[in-house]
Amino acid sequence: MNDPSPVPETPPANGPALPDAQTVTAVTHWTDRLFSFRVTRPRSLRFRSGEFVMIGLMGDNGKPLLRAYSIASPAWDDELEFYSIKVPDGPLTSRLQHIRAGDQIILRPKPVGTLVHDALLPGRRIWFLATGTGIAPFASLLRDPQTYEDYQEVVLTHTCREVGELEYGRRLIEKIRTDDLLEELIGKGFHEKLRYYPTTTREDSPTMGRITDLMRSGKVFSDLGVPALSPENDRAMVCGNLAFNLELKEMLEEYGLQEGANSDPGTYVVEKAFLD
Ligand code: A2P
Repeated sequence: MNDPSPVPETPPANGPALPDAQTVTAVTHWTDRLFSFRVTRPRSLRFRSGEFVMIGLMGDNGKPLLRAYSIASPAWDDELEFYSIKVPDGPLTSRLQHIRAGDQIILRPKPVGTLVHDALLPGRRIWFLATGTGIAPFASLLRDPQTYEDYQEVVLTHTCREVGELEYGRRLIEKIRTDDLLEELIGKGFHEKLRYYPTTTREDSPTMGRITDLMRSGKVFSDLGVPALSPENDRAMVCGNLAFNLELKEMLEEYGLQEGANSDPGTYVVEKAFLD
């Protein structure tokens, strides 16, 4: 993913007006900067939790304007969910934020990405480390039965500037902990493995600070009652803004973890949250 620039394509001369069209089924505005939406799922689309697809709208020039978006919904869901920032001057999100149920968006059904279980070696505890909309791929992974089959402990840390920006994740965790259907699907008591560690940096909340600083000070480990990361026990997936990804990559290497890929599994993986 890695390329947040638009991918212009020429629509087929005699093809449908909107290639790969999917219909919006629901939109939720979380803050004035954040919204999520659900769309119909192409019948042929199979994906691994944590992967992303290109989605967008038709541009004024008649060419699709697409961006990479992590799929936030689990692989077993009939629909697809996405979580997005609203960038006032962003070519896509300035328009996408106005979509409503019944509207159509473009979705290229070719999922890819590195935040997948296949890219990690077996371990005891998995850390999902997110900032902002970087929580999206973890929203999918946290509802994947494999996450709880593969690990004895699952930790989600989510750092945002303000408390309101944590709401999407807070509601997600609440739902995971109380959803009987999910328990039936994944197994009784699965959510007891799940630890949730939300932090804010610019507004008061029970845990303040960047997760990187809370790791350096050891506070996150003592709060959760777990040892500091080790290559023997811990696996990590990282998704947030660029500075966060780079800093965590360096820190994880210091803990002795090594970056993995689909073709060469390791002990951590990183992916960028896509912004305009
Ligand atoms: P901060 O408020 O101290 O910049 P953004 O909305 O800019 O993408 O940031 C989302 C969250 O990620 C913010 O809480 C921000 O903290 C935090 N953040 C930004 N850069 C880093 C970094 N290098 N390491 C850890 N957290 C970071």
